[in-house]
Amino acid sequence: MLSEKEVTGIMQECRIDRNIVFLESTDSTNMQVKKRADEDAPHGTVVVAETQNAGRGRAGRRWESPAGCNLYFSLLLREGVVPEKASMLTLVMGLSVQEAVAACCGVQTQIKWPNDIVLDGKKIAGILTEMHLQENAAPYVIIGTGVNIKAQEFLPELENKATFLESVSKEPVSREALLVKILECFDKNLVLFNQTMDLSLLCKKYNGVLVNRNGEVRVLDPAGEYTGTAEGINKEGELLVRLADGRCKQVYAGEVSVRGIYGYV
Ligand code: BTN
Repeated sequence: MLSEKEVTGIMQECRIDRNIVFLESTDSTNMQVKKRADEDAPHGTVVVAETQNAGRGRAGRRWESPAGCNLYFSLLLREGVVPEKASMLTLVMGLSVQEAVAACCGVQTQIKWPNDIVLDGKKIAGILTEMHLQENAAPYVIIGTGVNIKAQEFLPELENKATFLESVSKEPVSREALLVKILECFDKNLVLFNQTMDLSLLCKKYNGVLVNRNGEVRVLDPAGEYTGTAEGINKEGELLVRLADGRCKQVYAGEVSVRGIYGYV
């Protein structure tokens, strides 16, 4: 079981002041944060669970959440939430996970736009951001993150697409230390985001770890698939894709998914 005591100890060392709720088993940490948000939980509340029986992924998919091997947590943001900008927070969290994994485990990962963290071409982490608009109260955002850490069996359809951190790290990965480091990186990156209310101050770092940068990608747009060269993100978090005829498309994450030419990455 994830150790609450250990997390609290590490948080004190690095002076993160935050309300963290530990659950042994739950439906989905995103749902648990929503429940607490509706009961007035403060900005910055985190719910972390050992296992989820209704873990949710993007596009209505399930997020398999076995006990004992991974990190599942969700973060509530209330302050400074601007609905049109909320999707960019997913990229802020993606970058924070990438940085925390490097700092904590010495493992260099990359980001598959917009927010999959990949290692050797396979996914190790995913992020689900949900925006909640309320009639008579300020909107809030929930950012849910799942990181695959220890050896585990993946569903057959994920076998060539998913991996876990300890497949390459030299030492066992402490889930507690990684959680605290992710929150610390996110806090710092959020300050930069809030200065401009976009990714101006984070683009460079993000593009530096973007998988497929300057490579060929296939854009699965419901209006028609096309290929081009991924040049990086702009300050709005859109992926800039250069077409063969020289035109540049700004791809918005909500509408499409992007693949490498030969597969998932
Ligand atoms: C994806 O499809 O890549 C997003 C996966 C997000 C999974 C995390 S695990 C913690 C939080 N709770 C959920 O139900 N989903 C997110």
